[in-house]
Amino acid sequence: MPSDVPGYDFVVIANRLPVDVSLDDAGEPTWTRSPGGLVTALAPVMASTSGAWVGWGGAADLELDPFDVDGTELIPVVLSEDDLEQFYEGFSNDTLWPLYHDVIASPAFHRPWWDAYQRVNRRFAQAAADQAAQGATVWVHDYQLQLVPRMLRELRPDLRIGYFHHIPFPPLEIFAQLPWRKQVVEGLLGADLVGFQRAGDAANFVRVVRRFTDLTTRGQVITLTDANGAVDRHVRAAAFPISIDSHGFDDLARTDEVKERARQIRHELGDPEFLLLGVDRLDYTKGIRHRIKAYGELLSEERLSPQSTTLVQVASPSRENVGAYQQLRDDVELLVGRINGDYGQVGHAPVQYLHQSFPMEEMAALYLAADVMLVTALRDGMNLVAKEYVAARSDDRGALVLSEFTGAADELTGAVLVNPHDIDGMKDAITYAVHMDARDSRKRMRSLRRRVLGHDVVAWSQDFLSALNAVPIGGPGVSG
Ligand code: G6P
Repeated sequence: MPSDVPGYDFVVIANRLPVDVSLDDAGEPTWTRSPGGLVTALAPVMASTSGAWVGWGGAADLELDPFDVDGTELIPVVLSEDDLEQFYEGFSNDTLWPLYHDVIASPAFHRPWWDAYQRVNRRFAQAAADQAAQGATVWVHDYQLQLVPRMLRELRPDLRIGYFHHIPFPPLEIFAQLPWRKQVVEGLLGADLVGFQRAGDAANFVRVVRRFTDLTTRGQVITLTDANGAVDRHVRAAAFPISIDSHGFDDLARTDEVKERARQIRHELGDPEFLLLGVDRLDYTKGIRHRIKAYGELLSEERLSPQSTTLVQVASPSRENVGAYQQLRDDVELLVGRINGDYGQVGHAPVQYLHQSFPMEEMAALYLAADVMLVTALRDGMNLVAKEYVAARSDDRGALVLSEFTGAADELTGAVLVNPHDIDGMKDAITYAVHMDARDSRKRMRSLRRRVLGHDVVAWSQDFLSALNAVPIGGPGVSG
């Protein structure tokens, strides 16, 4: 592309645009902002440069012109019903998702899904190639788009390309099951920097590169060679643990409205002595069943009293067309029904199960109301709920029970760490957290808050982008 062609200096590519679309009464699409962490992370970058965001609008066959939201140009990519079924529900969420989460559910390998994954990745790569200015920085996000870095480099060798993997990267022995493992590795190697949540994820990736390519690696650096064996460029694989808008969340949870709502929630629940909380997408990786089972046993063994204890479980609807998610919903709802049937009373259910999503204000109030937060994922890239809970607790109270199998556990060492597969161990940890003395809990929460407030999502994106800028740009003349 000639250098006088206009375009954006900074382009984000993610499966979803940072907005929710809905149709108004006239059938016209209207947008509402859905300000996730990524939006906050990139706000300073977007404000200081000309930025675009390439992504899907969240509904099938939505053909919309690019539009501006707060100075960022949003470039919608159209996904048809077939794309949704085969690329999104199929390959992304029924092949890669379970494969990358320790095969908690069985990954399905279907060749038409792989075809759709390639087709849709090419569409995203092309959209970004059409929008990026000469020498622009492009940041590709997550497992739905692992082929984009290479496709984009082929279209636009002038770009600096970063990729961040938000979910776990599995051990070689599991990744090896993927029939298209080599293509996926080569897709990712199109980036200059491949970022992961944990050092262990980056190490898994480097090991996979060594196994499925002939490339040489040295620590975090992979060296790509051309057909003659000359050094072409370097790719760095490293950990950049993601965070949240910690200060924004802290501020929100300090407002009088949120504090009052927290009191009201406890009151509406009958002012329980102990309020436990779980907040998750309804996903089989989150260990929701394990947690509720442990809680049910604590009630049955009278280690917790069903009269004075409540577990609020928020399970937000997710990927409802995928079979494993439908099965999970049935399993969780059966379990909740049994516990409430066995231990409830008129006017009091020991599990308050909410299959809904709530606004941030309500979440902050729930965090503030809860004595113990239960994050018991069987495998999780990071788990931002754990960080939100900590950010909300400016009162230095509350206890966090956190699974060892989350990325967050690498950082949040002040939590009560658990192995969610060990139901007895989890019961002991919950009991410990419920009865934790005030001094212990304050000490732990202070250390957790130092970490979460000291490393927010803006710091994360700055760390990633400065590391991306530091990777020597490709082309002839790169020294080995
Ligand atoms: C995880 C993934 C994201 C994904 C989100 C919600 O956090 O890392 O890429 O967007 O789940 O899932 P959904 O399928 O609704 O986009």
